[in-house]
Amino acid sequence: MRILVTGAQGMLGHEVVRVFEKAGHDVIAADIMPEGTYLDITEPTAIRKALISERPDWLINCAAYTNVDACEDHEDQAFSLNAQGPEYLAQACSRFGVSLLHVSTDYVFDGTKNDPYSEHDLPHPINAYGRSKLAGEYAVRTGTREYIIVRPQWLFGIHGHNFVATIIEIARNHEKIHVVNDQWGSPTYANDLAKAMMMLVELDARGTYHLCNRGRATWYDLAKKAVEFAELDTEVVPVSSQEFPRPAKRPANSILSTKKFTEITGKLMPLWQISLEKYVQHYLVQSRKTSQA
Ligand SMILES: NC(=O)c1ccc[n+]([C@@H]2O[C@H](COP(=O)([O-])OP(=O)(O)OC[C@H]3O[C@@H](n4cnc5c(N)ncnc54)[C@H](OP(=O)(O)O)[C@@H]3O)[C@@H](O)[C@H]2O)c1
Repeated sequence: MRILVTGAQGMLGHEVVRVFEKAGHDVIAADIMPEGTYLDITEPTAIRKALISERPDWLINCAAYTNVDACEDHEDQAFSLNAQGPEYLAQACSRFGVSLLHVSTDYVFDGTKNDPYSEHDLPHPINAYGRSKLAGEYAVRTGTREYIIVRPQWLFGIHGHNFVATIIEIARNHEKIHVVNDQWGSPTYANDLAKAMMMLVELDARGTYHLCNRGRATWYDLAKKAVEFAELDTEVVPVSSQEFPRPAKRPANSILSTKKFTEITGKLMPLWQISLEKYVQHYLVQSRKTSQA
């Protein structure tokens, strides 16, 4: 299949390009970086031109305004990229017969549920990022019938900044680190997510799917495992989120159920601990290479 990926230079976009290319798909990687194909998802004319010239079967939108705290002060920018952009993409995809896979987030939920969130649960975002992403979902659903929306969470991946890499770097230089232990989620390897997204595309699925690694954790659990896999002696100390005030509120529990994904694909998502170990090994090899260069 011919796949146009927007936001292709981001953490997830990078993996999507890699995974789809490896499986033999014909991938056009677009982003707002000068190198490669330039496509700004807030430019409707440019989107239409790209669909006419590239003639993809699917457009996979990994572009977003992802700085959750910055969204509080820049809600207009967040809405432009996370809601208006997806609206333009959905309208253009519908017009030119292209299927759209759009990436949303667990932060559309308020985190007050005790059990994992299913696709039937009502979204109720508690921060500007979540509000902008939820508006993006509505825009996709109203703009085209031929869509998949995936909601992932707590991503770590080879390309770009993420919580796990940050923790390893801080732990390398500190004897003790403090990490929040009262927010629950399912840490997710961008590579596993990209593979799951490809399964849905290859099945020609439609609708909304929750996608994350299996198992649950707090940020403290994730940090502790990352430090252990990196073979560092740093002590990881659990603290409450009240001790770490941030500009944007976070949901206390945003664990997602991937039952619907398993029902359609027959596959279970990998356990987060197994994927985290793979990622940390890869990260250590890469950072050794960088320090030797
Ligand atoms: N990271 C997480 O933990 C997480 C959790 C749940 C859901 N998600 C969702 O997963 C998706 C991918 O996230 P990610 O972490 O891979 O994000 P990311 O690393 O921030 O990547 C986003 C990419 O989009 C590009 N971009 C920015 N403005 C653009 C525009 N106007 N047109 C086209 N591209 C543009 C960015 O370029 P610049 O870097 O130059 O701005 C970047 O390359 C997003 O939809 C996000 O909401 C992420």
